[in-house]
Amino acid sequence: AAVPAPRPAPARAAAGPLRAERCAVSLRQVPEELRVRVRLPDGLVTEESLQADSDADSISLELRKPDGTLVSFTADFKKDVKIFRALILGELEKGQSQFQALCFVTQLHHNEIIPSEAMAKLRQKNPRAVRQAEEVRGLEQLHMDMTVNFSQGALLSPHLHNVCAEAADAIYARQEDVRVWLDRGVDSSVFEALPKTSEQAELPRCSQVGDPGKPCACRYGLSLAWYPCMLKYCHSRDRPAPYKCGIRSCRKTYSFDFYVPQKQLCLWDEDP
Ligand SMILES: *[C@@H]1O[C@H](CO)[C@@H](O)[C@H](O)[C@H]1NC(C)=O
Repeated sequence: AAVPAPRPAPARAAAGPLRAERCAVSLRQVPEELRVRVRLPDGLVTEESLQADSDADSISLELRKPDGTLVSFTADFKKDVKIFRALILGELEKGQSQFQALCFVTQLHHNEIIPSEAMAKLRQKNPRAVRQAEEVRGLEQLHMDMTVNFSQGALLSPHLHNVCAEAADAIYARQEDVRVWLDRGVDSSVFEALPKTSEQAELPRCSQVGDPGKPCACRYGLSLAWYPCMLKYCHSRDRPAPYKCGIRSCRKTYSFDFYVPQKQLCLWDEDP
């Protein structure tokens, strides 16, 4: 069965690092990382960390939402795969001391984000500046109707093992992407179908379900508040051709729909 069963968070994470991280001032400090202060759509300011790995040809981005959720995004240019991960903290006042991890895997398309070698060269003159994306890209809604088997995940992207370790039972994908990956030779044992939320007309949104044990259609939304989405080119009399002279920044929001066997796996989905 590929559907995620409710499970306690790993003891290690529940007791230690994540709680500590919640109070930490800054995100992980790693060389070659660019840390920018960004303004979120609700006006609050958070810190975002961007890292490029030219050898692996990948970019990763991490930011913490004001509610404590840690959102990360990985672009794997070698496999044309992007991975979103959310570590959602339980609400302490509701007695939820654990966190829940979700991973969403989908195709990375060209021109969604700048190349990793350009990202690796990115510097900022004023680290205190609060940045706001120049371009707001439209909301993308993704209907996740398959799961990825964590132990087979490396066949899809070598990053999956690190990024989604916490979400081993909750890695979601879309049939339309899976078809493309199968065509490219990814083994079919990586994927499993979920019960179809769209065809089950009876299946209600989790926000409308009272019984925590009932299956429902869960929704999770996240935003990449600021990321370099395009290279800017300049012209100069001294140069024969346009040359790279900066980046354009974007903000984009994603909304993921997926089946959960029990509403209690989707406790954040309470808005009507
Ligand atoms: C994941 O794949 C492994 C190896 O093929 C298999 O043994 C395991 O049962 C699969 N897990 C699930 C949840 O389907």
